[in-house]
Amino acid sequence: MRRFTSIADIVSGPGLASALTDALTLKAEPWRYPEVGRRKTLGLLFMNPSLRTRMSTQKAATLLGMDTMVLNAGSDSWTLETRDGVIMEGGATEHIKEAAAVMGQYCDILGIRTFAGLQDRDADYNERILESFIRYAGVPVVSLESATRHPLQSFADLITIETLKRKPRPKVVLTWAPHPKALPQAVANSFSEWMMQADVDFIITHPDGYDLAPSFTQGAVVTHDQRAAFEGADFIYAKNWSSYTDYGQILSKDMDWTVTAEKMRLTNDARFMHCLPVRRNMIVADEVLDGPWSVVIEQAANRVVSAQTMLLHMLRELAR
Ligand code: CP
Repeated sequence: MRRFTSIADIVSGPGLASALTDALTLKAEPWRYPEVGRRKTLGLLFMNPSLRTRMSTQKAATLLGMDTMVLNAGSDSWTLETRDGVIMEGGATEHIKEAAAVMGQYCDILGIRTFAGLQDRDADYNERILESFIRYAGVPVVSLESATRHPLQSFADLITIETLKRKPRPKVVLTWAPHPKALPQAVANSFSEWMMQADVDFIITHPDGYDLAPSFTQGAVVTHDQRAAFEGADFIYAKNWSSYTDYGQILSKDMDWTVTAEKMRLTNDARFMHCLPVRRNMIVADEVLDGPWSVVIEQAANRVVSAQTMLLHMLRELAR
């Protein structure tokens, strides 16, 4: 793989089934390939905060023998201008063209985290910043969450479902839940995109006005009746996102959408999933997060597995 920005890169590369087999092997045996990344450097650029992505991707690189360099844009590197053709008289010090090209000189693979701005839907959905890095870096690029997708998270989510499912084709529900701030649609888009390719029955439930971009949900069952969606579910995946149609707007903070124990009892003893960080007693009640349903810590642990699998495939491609 020369890039990993969506499930399409896995499907057109090793294939989803093969990548999943590799992931399960690495989950069982994390130190299986300690030399494959020797003398290779992974650069990680964070334009937004992170705990899990930052640590799990570094851990994955270590397991493969890679060196890692981490930069936080704007605090320990220069602030970046991302627009083309502008007079740089504002706050940004360095253009993404030079920054990406220079980082490509120091690193064999680059990882980029860049959230949606939630102001300009076209700019976000065209992935202007991520695509600029891919264009100018000259080395393979991994998305550490972009404006519209979070593929390393979704791959970890799929690994979690595969390892914990109790029937061949589980029912998986993605439910919107309330949050005080406007959040991007990236995790929900990406999870939907991956579930559409997985061997699961997939249902999305959200309040009116929260339809995701059709390109991510085509073929999915969508309902505004959260309780009906929960009935018989094997996995509940909670996430907040802001409106796609009223772009970036908060249309509801209705606490009746919070995932509670009473709702979990409607399910087939479902596992509760969330990508973290999670707002307790907004998204999900303490009793669910602290109870037997929750698999959020195992889900976060699988972030190492998804990153290691993806880096392994990229390193093999570099070695060809
Ligand atoms: N789930 C996730 O990406 O967590 P971080 O934002 O902490 O990296």
